[in-house]
Amino acid sequence: MASPAHLIVRGSILHFLQDPAQYPDAEAFQYLDDGYLWLADGIVQGTGNWQQLGEIPAAAREHATWADHSGQLILPGLVDTHMHYVQAGMIGSFGCRLLDWLNDYTFPAEAAFADPDVARVTAKFVIERLLAHGTTTASVFGSVHPQSVDAFMAEAAQRGLRMLCGKAMMDRYCPPEVRDTAEQSGRDSADLISRWHGKGRLRYTITPRFAPTSTPEQLGIAGELYRSKPDLHVQSHLAENDKEVAWVAELFPQQRDYLDVYEHFGLTGPRTIYGHCIHLTDREQAAMAASGTAAAFCPTSNLFLGSGMFDYHSVAGAGVRVGLATDVGGGTSLSMIRTLAEAYKVSQARHHPLSPMRGWYLATLGGARALYLDEVIGNFAPGREGDFIVLKLDATPELAFRMARARTLAERLFALTTLGDERCVAATYIMGQRAH
Ligand code: GUN
Ligand code: FE
Repeated sequence: MASPAHLIVRGSILHFLQDPAQYPDAEAFQYLDDGYLWLADGIVQGTGNWQQLGEIPAAAREHATWADHSGQLILPGLVDTHMHYVQAGMIGSFGCRLLDWLNDYTFPAEAAFADPDVARVTAKFVIERLLAHGTTTASVFGSVHPQSVDAFMAEAAQRGLRMLCGKAMMDRYCPPEVRDTAEQSGRDSADLISRWHGKGRLRYTITPRFAPTSTPEQLGIAGELYRSKPDLHVQSHLAENDKEVAWVAELFPQQRDYLDVYEHFGLTGPRTIYGHCIHLTDREQAAMAASGTAAAFCPTSNLFLGSGMFDYHSVAGAGVRVGLATDVGGGTSLSMIRTLAEAYKVSQARHHPLSPMRGWYLATLGGARALYLDEVIGNFAPGREGDFIVLKLDATPELAFRMARARTLAERLFALTTLGDERCVAATYIMGQRAH
């Protein structure tokens, strides 16, 4: 179905233009208590006060479709910068830390994705649930099987979503059912790139799982793929768990630290993003900042797997691009709202509590910047793609009770962070079309 030529949405509009930790409020965000968001052919044309609707040309207003979400909060679609759709069936697996968790639960669960039917059913389920949670863009890991990416991309393409996905490259230290070879992984990734990269709004992400499960040869091939086209992405894991970090030092004795492994194979730079980044040295932080390599903050996963507490204040302070991520199924929820609540708790424990404004920046424009997609998504600047969500601030009795006593926008946003979840997501729009 084609996008309506003109869509005018009424509601309380909030979007970010800069990081609120670095800019004064007036430059960091726009908030319109009773505002309009105007789209044409699914693309943002502008925002303004409802009283100034006359700013929209009469010809556009005459032919517009109207969506009245008065009293509800309209935000850009949420951006999950790191998740594994193939782990939706093993989320909440008990008792292990990273390396045992991978062997005991994760690899066996991912082995099932050799079956295209498993992949199709799971991709449909996860994409429907992402939209229900208000997530409109995600950087997604498939399993080692190319058919897992075909299934996810086909489902995302059909719905016109801006999604990133890649096949996990893993040619050692994993069971044969989920192991490829360096050469095969290069061929399969190249095939998937030609099939999906740039199709509609999709992007391909080269996905070496993490340093331990790739031979140097495979990491070299991943680096070559990244350089083979100007706009390909890379995703992997970095410095998540102490035993993992020690193992990487053993496996790659010539490299000065964990990040250096990825640097050595040309896997750092723009459009590369690494999950976790908990146990980084100062050198690694500085090198990530200098090369434009992004970090994904995965608080529910980091707590659930006992991996540690990401130092958002320090990593972002060093100049590293940081996005927020669920990391399902190490993470425990597809909800970016619940993820934000856990991010706050970790930052609070680290004595640098994440402000409500910065939190919602992180879940929208911050994530778009971490993925180098901020020219197309992340806020309502004219020309951006019209993916947005409508949040109901009184979705539960507890929220309604609390909201009735909240005086400022920041207070309301923080109560939403603390008490909210997908029950608050009243609607999700993709390019101006209602998708949930
Ligand atoms: N490191 C390598 N693979 C994974 C994974 O699937 N999840 C997490 N959290 N860390 C990893
Ligand atoms: Fe992960």
